[in-house]
Amino acid sequence: MSKKITIVGGHGNVSLKLAKLLSPTHTVTSIIRNADQEQDIKDVGATPLILSLEDNSVSDFAKSFNGQDVVYFSAGAGGKGGEERTKAVDYEGGIKVFDALEAIEGPKPRLIHVSAVDIRDPNKVPAHYDEADRAMSERVRKGIPAYMKWKYESDKNLAKRTAFKWTMLRPGGLNNDEGTDKADIGRTHICTTVSRQNVAKALALLVDREDAAGLSIDFVGGETPISEGLETFIKKGETDWLG
Ligand SMILES: NC(=O)c1ccc[n+]([C@@H]2O[C@H](COP(=O)([O-])OP(=O)(O)OC[C@H]3O[C@@H](n4cnc5c(N)ncnc54)[C@H](OP(=O)(O)O)[C@@H]3O)[C@@H](O)[C@H]2O)c1
Repeated sequence: MSKKITIVGGHGNVSLKLAKLLSPTHTVTSIIRNADQEQDIKDVGATPLILSLEDNSVSDFAKSFNGQDVVYFSAGAGGKGGEERTKAVDYEGGIKVFDALEAIEGPKPRLIHVSAVDIRDPNKVPAHYDEADRAMSERVRKGIPAYMKWKYESDKNLAKRTAFKWTMLRPGGLNNDEGTDKADIGRTHICTTVSRQNVAKALALLVDREDAAGLSIDFVGGETPISEGLETFIKKGETDWLG
């Protein structure tokens, strides 16, 4: 069934691929902060809407989400602008979107939130991690500490919300390889990167998976067909979020 969908971070590399997958079936609005990107959004079949996570208010976002079936959050500072900006976009921007969803009177859209694999309390090492995972985790935490910290704060906040339905997709390091429609999904190791096209595919499939509410899904490069891997994960119902 055709749904009304809004993508926050609409001009991101993942979001443009996602809009292209969704727009033949659904009505897609892509939130951007720069009017120069409008044509790129139209080219993938979506309608641009200009709002900034840093400059617009909770109520501006609530207005734009009202009447939508699904909201995606795939925005991020991308490490530009130092820790202050990572905090402002990846953390405070996330909270703004969660608060806006809560502020809607009447039916609230579902949120499909892009996080990242290994976002967790640094003291809680997942039991299935091997030596290579632990080394990778340490390397990443040293390399991009602000991102790991503020995404964790954002995910902790979202995990407690019950006023709207949410699902988190937690990709590993992203690459620009061709999509294969295959991945490794759930309780994964973390050393294999995953293509943005495959991430977009998983996000697009989640649009119809209301039964994924409350689940955080690890998603890295692998060989399982994505629809099959999601099906198995959702049926099992065991979240990858360990707090
Ligand atoms: N990179 C990785 O290896 C990796 C791994 C795991 C998870 N992730 C997550 O995956 C997400 C999507 O990745 P991607 O490659 O598609 O990222 P991307 O290309 O950097 O896209 C991020 C989008 O966020 C937008 N944005 C930044 N500040 C904003 C603001 N104040 N208001 C509204 N939008 C704003 C950017 O808009 P502008 O064009 O205007 O700057 C950009 O379009 C990332 O945000 C990250 O959290 C990334």
